[in-house]
Amino acid sequence: MIQTVRGTFDILPDEVPRWRLLEETARTVFRCYGYREIRTPIFERTALFARSVGEETDIVAKEMYTFTDRGGECLSLRPESTASVVRAYIQHRMWTWGSVVKLFYLGPHFRYERPQKGRFRQFHQIGAEAIGQNDDPAIDAELIEMVEEYLDRLGVAERELFINSVGCSRCRPAYVRHLKDALSGVLSRLCEDCQRRYETNPLRILDCKVEDDQPFIERAPALLDHLCEACAAHFEALRRHLEERGIAYQVARRLVRGLDYYTRTAFEITSARLGAQNAIAGGGRYDGLSELLGGPPAKGIGFALGVERLLLALPEDAAVTDDAPDLYIAYLGEAARQEAFRVARRLRRAGLVVIYDFQERKLRRLMAQADRMKARYALLIGEDELAAGRYTLRDMRTGEQEVLSEEALVRRLMTSRELSASGRR
Ligand code: HAM
Repeated sequence: MIQTVRGTFDILPDEVPRWRLLEETARTVFRCYGYREIRTPIFERTALFARSVGEETDIVAKEMYTFTDRGGECLSLRPESTASVVRAYIQHRMWTWGSVVKLFYLGPHFRYERPQKGRFRQFHQIGAEAIGQNDDPAIDAELIEMVEEYLDRLGVAERELFINSVGCSRCRPAYVRHLKDALSGVLSRLCEDCQRRYETNPLRILDCKVEDDQPFIERAPALLDHLCEACAAHFEALRRHLEERGIAYQVARRLVRGLDYYTRTAFEITSARLGAQNAIAGGGRYDGLSELLGGPPAKGIGFALGVERLLLALPEDAAVTDDAPDLYIAYLGEAARQEAFRVARRLRRAGLVVIYDFQERKLRRLMAQADRMKARYALLIGEDELAAGRYTLRDMRTGEQEVLSEEALVRRLMTSRELSASGRR
């Protein structure tokens, strides 16, 4: 028996309403902040991710699904979408669209990680990016407010927002020298990866997950203490903006995030409802990524949420199955069967969910089936009904039965549908 690949899973019909709730709420909330949906390909040239996320990051060095296609091109399944969105910004000359272009996306992403609770190889992100000429910290604060608003709307409780600044190309070189000095004495005690990173990309040492390295990393100097004046002012302004918007946060001096493109603002939102993989969302600023990819100078900030993790943090009763049939048609005999098909088509055109069995059964079995499917009403069409042109409608909640003409039946079902829809609202 061939089963799903390790780290992937099916989303079954009973689970889909919760997924749709997350997706539809994102579309509603992000739209209110002026973000528009973009859909980029699921695979891109490997070089796009290698250059933006960084050759030395775990994502690029260890986790990408990379393959050569039949034409000999080296491609990768997207491990994240910021690189793709910035590529699209450049490719479609989006700087002509306005000074800050706001985009959001949702869909599957791929990382070859060790699967565990909240960590998969195909996982889903909902993310947003604001790219343009402006790096006003108010844009950062507005984006963070939008994520908070989204999580509030979903009822995701027990969460924390951590912020930090990772500086820019002006202050980082001096900090990296400090970092290297501080680590030089203990270099031989760091893991092999970190010994290599020390030469190739020392900042990535701060992102190392190896247990034995943690005490050294904790004692290393923090970037926050070595920011240039402009970065320090940007961070102070971000804090002020968050406070003015009433958004609670903590400064996490060690937060560097696992991607190379970040500058200045870096943030993460965690939930106490999750296990070891407790980050529901992460993001930050990436001024200069456009230039790195051959585009015009541009600033950018964005974030992405992990949908599987969000689902773990979501209240149990957040969404209900909404696809129970409005009507189950039970027919007896061949002529009644044809009539059932006709009536069903008419009602379905009117937007009702109508189900019948293809196989003829005894009435008792048909009613049991209507019950099992949680149908609101059942319609009986037998020879008598057919001859009279009137049908027996049974309310599956009360058991009451009524004999109705086709027109009266349509009216009754439509009214009931409207009532239950307004009840749900
Ligand atoms: P990231 O922190 O790598 O950032 O991923 C964002 C979120 O995706 C994580 O906080 C987590 O919830 C979820 N996630 C990541 N890997 C997995 C996995 N293997 N299984 C389940 N969930 C996962 C980015 O991807 C950046 N592109 C975010 C960003 C947008 N920064 C600026 N703009």
